[in-house]
Amino acid sequence: MASFRNHFAIILIASILVSFANAKLSTNFYDCTCPNLQEIVRNEMIAAVNKEQRIGASLLRLFFHDCFINGCDAGILLDDTKTFRSEKTASPNRNSLRGFEVIDNIKTRVEDACPATVSCADILALAARDGVVLLGGPTWEVTLGRRDARTASFSRANNQLPGPSYNLSALISSFAAKGLSARDMTALSGGHTIGQARCSSFRDRAYNDTEIDPAFAAERRADCPCKCRENSLAPLDLQTPTRFENSYYKNLLVKRGLLHSDQELFNGGSQDRLVRFYSNNEGAFRRDFVNAMIKMGNISPLTGTHGEIRLNCRVVN
Ligand code: HEM
Ligand SMILES: *[C@@H]1O[C@H](CO)[C@@H](O)[C@H](O)[C@H]1NC(C)=O
Ligand SMILES: *[C@@H]1O[C@H](CO)[C@@H](O)[C@H](O)[C@H]1NC(C)=O
Repeated sequence: MASFRNHFAIILIASILVSFANAKLSTNFYDCTCPNLQEIVRNEMIAAVNKEQRIGASLLRLFFHDCFINGCDAGILLDDTKTFRSEKTASPNRNSLRGFEVIDNIKTRVEDACPATVSCADILALAARDGVVLLGGPTWEVTLGRRDARTASFSRANNQLPGPSYNLSALISSFAAKGLSARDMTALSGGHTIGQARCSSFRDRAYNDTEIDPAFAAERRADCPCKCRENSLAPLDLQTPTRFENSYYKNLLVKRGLLHSDQELFNGGSQDRLVRFYSNNEGAFRRDFVNAMIKMGNISPLTGTHGEIRLNCRVVN
């Protein structure tokens, strides 16, 4: 009995410690202070996706790029100031990240309903989830309670985001540096079931890679004939770039990954089995994607008295 009680006490203390470590985010954070928050975000996202389906993909990517730089703190949304250079202008983001105006629109509506209450970081987390759902992907409860950064990091945005030329081990390490496993990395890469990439992101692959379907490579070279077309686009998921499903993995099996980094997940290495599994099992992909999104959304949030609730997502208060 005594030993049962001791165990119980240890478990209790351990769970209190764990809940301090994560205390931070909860799915009901704004239930009292902004009960209509989720509806406001969803309605704006419905309007944005109706206008342009790709924007659902763009919001998902915006959230990923936010979370990887100093945690999910809306640092990515800040414009240049006299004291810091924005993350927006770093090379993985410049001429490429999209969706800032959608966040501004949502923020305006949210400020009308619940002034100075909801962080830009949480709005971005909800918008990314809704973007996935509106394109046919899985849904999940978004943990909330993040606060907004007062600064941005141009240099980390240049150094800590994985690039399209990365090999498998570099991809795995860049996610490990954020506390995400190789399995999380492979599931999250399924985000490339939606959206587009620019010629500059796939030119080397179209011209120089060997692990690529030759007909597919020829089509991509046609999209990307010269340096003069840096911004011409191709779908990350060949057939269905506005449908969130597992066809991204099916394309990898036939060497039709658009980016070199995509094909690295199915190239004779450690992730081959998982890619095959997701390509055959949509449900498993959806489950792992959701778990990994929640994990990514929990990367070093600012909580409590850290950071602030920005009034305009582009500038610190
Ligand atoms: C695994 C490492 C990753 C690499 C190397 C990578 C790289 C890229 C690149 C180069 C582009 C095209 C950018 C352009 O040419 O403008 C892109 C687009 C995109 N990425 Fe990733 N990405 C990775 C992981 C992720 C993750 C984890 C997500 C989300 C869960 C994601 C979601 C997207 C989406 C949705 C787009 C299309 C955006 C749009 O159409 O506006 N990516 N990615
Ligand atoms: C992967 O890329 C890294 C960084 O560029 C390099 O150091 C490493 O040798 C590469 N690994 C393989 C297996 O090619
Ligand atoms: C292909 O590789 C060659 C040799 O490394 C390089 O000189 C050339 O610039 C590459 N072409 C493209 C389009 O990346």
